[in-house]
Amino acid sequence: MSVVRSIISGCGSYLPERIVTNEELAERVDTSDEWIVGRTGIRQRHIAADDELTSDLAIRASQEALAAAGVEGAEIDVIVLATSTPDQTMPATAAKVQAAIGMDDGFAFDVQAVCSGFIFALAVADNFIRAGQAERALVIGAETFSRIMDWEDRSTCVLFGDGAGAVILEAGSGDGTPADRGILTSHLHSDGRHHDILCTDGGVSSTRTAGFLRMRGREVFRHAVTNLSSVITEALEATGLTAEDIDWIVPHQANKRILDGTAKKFGISPDKVIITIDKHANTSAASVPLALKSALDDGRIKRGDLVLMEAMGAGLTWGAALVRW
Ligand code: ACO
Repeated sequence: MSVVRSIISGCGSYLPERIVTNEELAERVDTSDEWIVGRTGIRQRHIAADDELTSDLAIRASQEALAAAGVEGAEIDVIVLATSTPDQTMPATAAKVQAAIGMDDGFAFDVQAVCSGFIFALAVADNFIRAGQAERALVIGAETFSRIMDWEDRSTCVLFGDGAGAVILEAGSGDGTPADRGILTSHLHSDGRHHDILCTDGGVSSTRTAGFLRMRGREVFRHAVTNLSSVITEALEATGLTAEDIDWIVPHQANKRILDGTAKKFGISPDKVIITIDKHANTSAASVPLALKSALDDGRIKRGDLVLMEAMGAGLTWGAALVRW
């Protein structure tokens, strides 16, 4: 049976120039490199310049993804941009990307699922392609979390960074089997009962400001391994694949201990988990495509590999996608 599959034909990423090390942060708040590395695996983060906006990061990553795919901006039918730190409350940051890449047709919009944003955006774009409403999609995760950090709160300011990543999806076809190239399956979840364990303390309709990020870290941690394990199981069951079939896990980079714990639960070797959190901390919706790009650049992910992408974030939201490269 012939089916439409969304094939990832290009990937791009961008990190702002300025690097802030753990040592530099330890000069500002009561923390240490030892604490941050030991609890999270983070060694440094990139911070956007004052005049650098989420759209600027998104545009740089998108241009690289378009070049990698050999596609012009005008050939894109839909942009789905995941962010919780848009340039403005309105319009969507995706609109600025659309103008910048010379896409004067089609449609562009933002989705907001915090750290799971990229998986949500990927699933939305995949659905447009499989429904025949788009041939080519640009999917972006872009964030400037530095703007919603309380730089005096050591329990959060050491954890996050700025960055962007993007992929191009193109309609292809397959036989409807797990051997097909492209996105094989995607699964999304949320549980709003936990909306207040990871949130900002402000917002347009509540305080008329963006607010600062607040997190009950231990509670988030507890939910993370459970939720990620269940959504990975769901993705494997939907395709008839097993954990042994997975060549690479490209996870949301929130905490190395969560990544190690999840892989261990499935008996997956830590060597198969792409970890970049040491270089750019938690960049929320940008972290999955940033990790993906690094594993493509260094040749780890190759044609035919089975790649599992997964993420969990505020909401709570969580999701997973299985992709045959
Ligand atoms: N430096 C030094 N000490 C610190 C720091 C710091 N930066 N931050 C907190 N501490 C202290 C605390 O004050 C506490 O001290 P106390 O015992 O004297 O009270 C102690 O360290 C332990 O604090 P915990 O919060 O219990 O530390 P924990 O081991 O849980 O690690 C962490 C904290 C890293 C935040 C962890 O809970 C975590 O990773 N949680 C999950 C976060 C996550 O996954 N987020 C993903 C989603 S992000 C998104 O969606 C936007």
